[in-house]
Amino acid sequence: MVSKASEDGRSGPSRRSVLAGASAFAGFAVVAPKRAAASGSDRVEALLAQMTLEEKAGQLSCFADMIRPPIADMNPLVNLRNAQTLLAEIHAGRIGVLMNGVGTAGALEAQKAAVEGSRLKIPLLFAADIVHGFRTVFPIPLAESGSFDPRLAERTAHGAASEASASGLHWTFAPMVDVARDQRWGRVAEGAGEDVYLGEVMAAARVRGFQGKDLKAEDSMLATPKHFAAYGAVTAGLDYNSVEISEATLREVHLPPFQAAFAAGALTTMSAFNDINGVPATANKRLLTDILRGEWGFKGVVISDYTADQELVAHGYAHDDRDAARLAILAGVDISMQSGLYLRYLPELTAAGAVPMAVVDASVRRVLALKEAIGLFDNPYRSINAKVEAMRTATPTLRQLSREAGGRSIVLLRNEGAILPLPTAGKRLALIGPFAEDRDNVLGAWGGFFADRSLNVDLASGVRSALADPGALIVERGCEVETTLAGGFERAVAAAQAADIVLLAIGESQDMTGEAKSRTDIRIPAVQQRLAEAIAATGKPVVVLLRHGRAIALEGVVRDARAILATWFLGSEMGNAVADVLFGTVNPSARLPVSFPQESGQEPFFYNGRTTGRPAPLDPNSQEYKSRWRSIRNEALYPFGFGLGYASFALSDLKLSDARLGWNDTLRITAKLTNTGQTHGEHVVQLYIHDRVASRTRPVRELKGFQRVSLAPGASHDVRFELRRENLMFIGGDDRWLAEPGMFDVWVANSSIDGLVGQFELLAG
Ligand code: BGC
Repeated sequence: MVSKASEDGRSGPSRRSVLAGASAFAGFAVVAPKRAAASGSDRVEALLAQMTLEEKAGQLSCFADMIRPPIADMNPLVNLRNAQTLLAEIHAGRIGVLMNGVGTAGALEAQKAAVEGSRLKIPLLFAADIVHGFRTVFPIPLAESGSFDPRLAERTAHGAASEASASGLHWTFAPMVDVARDQRWGRVAEGAGEDVYLGEVMAAARVRGFQGKDLKAEDSMLATPKHFAAYGAVTAGLDYNSVEISEATLREVHLPPFQAAFAAGALTTMSAFNDINGVPATANKRLLTDILRGEWGFKGVVISDYTADQELVAHGYAHDDRDAARLAILAGVDISMQSGLYLRYLPELTAAGAVPMAVVDASVRRVLALKEAIGLFDNPYRSINAKVEAMRTATPTLRQLSREAGGRSIVLLRNEGAILPLPTAGKRLALIGPFAEDRDNVLGAWGGFFADRSLNVDLASGVRSALADPGALIVERGCEVETTLAGGFERAVAAAQAADIVLLAIGESQDMTGEAKSRTDIRIPAVQQRLAEAIAATGKPVVVLLRHGRAIALEGVVRDARAILATWFLGSEMGNAVADVLFGTVNPSARLPVSFPQESGQEPFFYNGRTTGRPAPLDPNSQEYKSRWRSIRNEALYPFGFGLGYASFALSDLKLSDARLGWNDTLRITAKLTNTGQTHGEHVVQLYIHDRVASRTRPVRELKGFQRVSLAPGASHDVRFELRRENLMFIGGDDRWLAEPGMFDVWVANSSIDGLVGQFELLAG
């Protein structure tokens, strides 16, 4: 019996619909001018007509909200404005957006200053990085993407928006939609991983979740797909590093998730820190104006990343700050974040004719239109209600959602002898490792900023509350994350000896992942690996509970443990979510959104690389001159799309509706999925293609669809996918999307390396 077959049965936001996404700016229909295309609504035009150059520059300036900062000494080096100076500037109409401040009390004070104190009474927009939760924290986006469940991502984004908007916020700098193919980059944690298609699906889901159906609703937040663009392609995974990329890879890999987010209704984006082939994204007119607005018809607002305009000087692209402001606005950056350069230089640049007034006006129009789109002029105190704030913060419903999302994000990588799920009684358990009883490393990348840390559930509490006899759990730290602990190993080994099963909680700490946290080596820190060896030497069965914000290069006894659960950073309810899976209340069903390499040195490493002239030989011991490493197999240790559960599944009976696909037709692909296990379970069935011969070499495989199917033991379900020409397109020699007739392989698979394979031919039109 099929209890649920969901998500995206049709494969892919088609290229055509994505390219046509420009027309999908429903939100901006609110401000869509009845008159000339370049003007705003009557209200916007009336305001613009009255604004001084200074007031215009003010609307294009965003500063850290020191009136209600979440932490007292936020970025002291660049936060030159304190609460008093900010309030004075708001009065003077010199600020349009405040960011990363929280709480309705401060919001009221700041908004009053704008609406009652400033000459033109233009309300402020309140923005913040609400990336994976606010007070209640959900799994890091990478983990949640492993759920392959866009509906879940939509629900958590909505939950985050509901909680954060109740604290006086209108706008989130999320989702992060950068495709990340190098696991050394710390910001892998914030996105959807290495795949374009999964990235598109998750980007759109998160935008829908944050924004909801009505931008004027008080629990809706404007979404910002970021960082535009190709930030995930920084050389060597080093944060803020330069990006050298072909036009084809830019357009095929890095831009589509943005297009999907815009098609889902996102009205803003953020220019990235990095350069692209020598032109910084924040001064990149081709990217921010020609592609974004010209090709895609984007009508919304571009905000710079944090001081990214000023960084044009350090890039060696601008002579000085004044030049940097000029380059950024001329390229298409509407709002300057935190540097203050627009406020300082735009009036003078415009007066001197170095920046046309029309350019400034166009940006101001867009910012005012954004404020209008969320109803801010009519309801400037929206989202500022202390009662609502209390009611919507850290609710049991949000905590429950966090727990559910956590369970659905855990990937079971290995389960030798079906050691999992564990019984809740009759076994003595030792929970060992620096993350065993640790509440400081459960939230992940953005969790530490706004979270209510009193909500954090650590592993020990989660496991204890699941056990019939909480006394059956012994907890030992063993070592710190990167250093030893006096007597730690000895106590941990003794605990293991006294137990039947060891739960080993090891991996990365929270501040080893996220922004500016690139690693050269993606292994578990050496001291923890040594701890694992000491524990394994006891001969007790070990279940690894891996803590991480990226793919990890597993080795030695950790790699060979009886069971391995990829548990990422799961948010406020981490301990409970892990216990749910450990003891089988939740049957794990997530799949890897990133490939786990054999060794760190394989990075950048992803499943969908292009074919080469010398593919690796099947025999790993072959000495042929092929594209292979000397010492290891090419294949991932655990590939993209892989994950086990407590049930088992078999795919059979692959059928294609035809061996040929007409130029304007649809090919239907079906396969039978059977639950061959003893328990109810969910499986993620994946559709991949490979273009056999093309005018540019193509990836060995590309994900084009997936479906999550829930089946009772013994039950079967026919999984159906569709492919059309649009799903087979790529960027050709002239840097445009095209489809080429010819033969394609198609797989219906359990992961990116297996599956039932068929072939079809795309016929010429
Ligand atoms: C990050 C952005 C973030 C911004 C504002 C920057 O350092 O790159 O992702 O939105 O700060 O906090």
